[in-house]
Amino acid sequence: LDNGLARTPQMGWNSWNFFACNINETVIKETADALVSTGLAALGYNYVNIDDCWSSATRNLEGELVPDPQTFPSGIKALADYVHQKGLKLGIYSDAGAFTCQVRPGSLFHEMDDANLFASWEVDYLKYDNCFNLGIKPEKRYPPMRDALNSTGRAVFYSLCEWGVDDPALWAGKVGNSWRTTDDISDSWVSMTTIADLNNKWASYAGPGGWNDPDMLEVGNGGMTHAEYRSHFSIWALMKAPLLIGCDVRNMTAETFEILSNEEIIAVNRDPLGVQGRKILSEGNDECSQVWAGPLSGNRLVVALWNRCSQAVTITVTWETLGLDNTTCFSVRDLWKHETLEGNVAGRLGAEVDSHDCKMFILSPPSSSLVVI
Ligand code: GLA
Repeated sequence: LDNGLARTPQMGWNSWNFFACNINETVIKETADALVSTGLAALGYNYVNIDDCWSSATRNLEGELVPDPQTFPSGIKALADYVHQKGLKLGIYSDAGAFTCQVRPGSLFHEMDDANLFASWEVDYLKYDNCFNLGIKPEKRYPPMRDALNSTGRAVFYSLCEWGVDDPALWAGKVGNSWRTTDDISDSWVSMTTIADLNNKWASYAGPGGWNDPDMLEVGNGGMTHAEYRSHFSIWALMKAPLLIGCDVRNMTAETFEILSNEEIIAVNRDPLGVQGRKILSEGNDECSQVWAGPLSGNRLVVALWNRCSQAVTITVTWETLGLDNTTCFSVRDLWKHETLEGNVAGRLGAEVDSHDCKMFILSPPSSSLVVI
């Protein structure tokens, strides 16, 4: 969507994966505090997004949405002010249907009123869900909210959440800044890998202004191993997926922080070229030995060696498979070890990778000063 936003995929935090409906204004404020105090905000995680359950079960007599007085007694404007003072942005959630998925009032046929209300609260982001959609096609239900947000004059990131039904990649580029390509993620290896494969299919439709959204991060929620979370984060970054943290950042472990704060991986996600990397090789039993790769600015490439097998394997990719001339030399940077390999590499890149782990590298043309004549 050409609204000036989403030049790179959105980064931040969303309440749903960890808190579900157990949210309140204190949680949101403390999360904003933690994003700043941990340094995550400075790394780019700037959206603080409230998901479902912030609103009362019914609209007021004027027909307006009302923040739940028990959990958000100070209202959303006060929260937006708090978050803005910290240099962050506030996101909210509604639904392109009669109700949200947790049966709060939806915005279908209330688009203009609700967009005006959100803008008056100085909200910066809207996640727009697909429950209770009355059987009306998403192509009909999502554009009215785009137009309503646009007419407020406020720049509001528009995140479509129609779960990949009706193949949104095919039509949502003109409607939203991102579109969910799959059903909800859960905190498991099977869910994460399945979703990565589904999202991969739509790679060519992503780019600055509009991104495929394979759902929010589960890193730090406990259902996967450290290696699995490293894979999750690596592949989401490479796929130019939104990096929306879904754990309780007030209480993260050092291991979780180490993954989420990997600046070199974040830089892959925020690369200005904005091309979604894809699966380029899958070999072995159940095609579990995989290579995912994509171009980056400056004639660089990102390459992930992803072991989805149940034992350690050596994964190798040739320059031919990467679409490179066989003799081209590259300097190779390991984004998890934070080391540059000694010497330049030509022809192939390989490494042993632990089960369910992922190694990620950037291949850069060697700087001209290194060329020996
Ligand atoms: C749907 C969405 C989720 C979350 C819940 C909230 O399932 O896909 O991301 O927003 O609704 O009810």
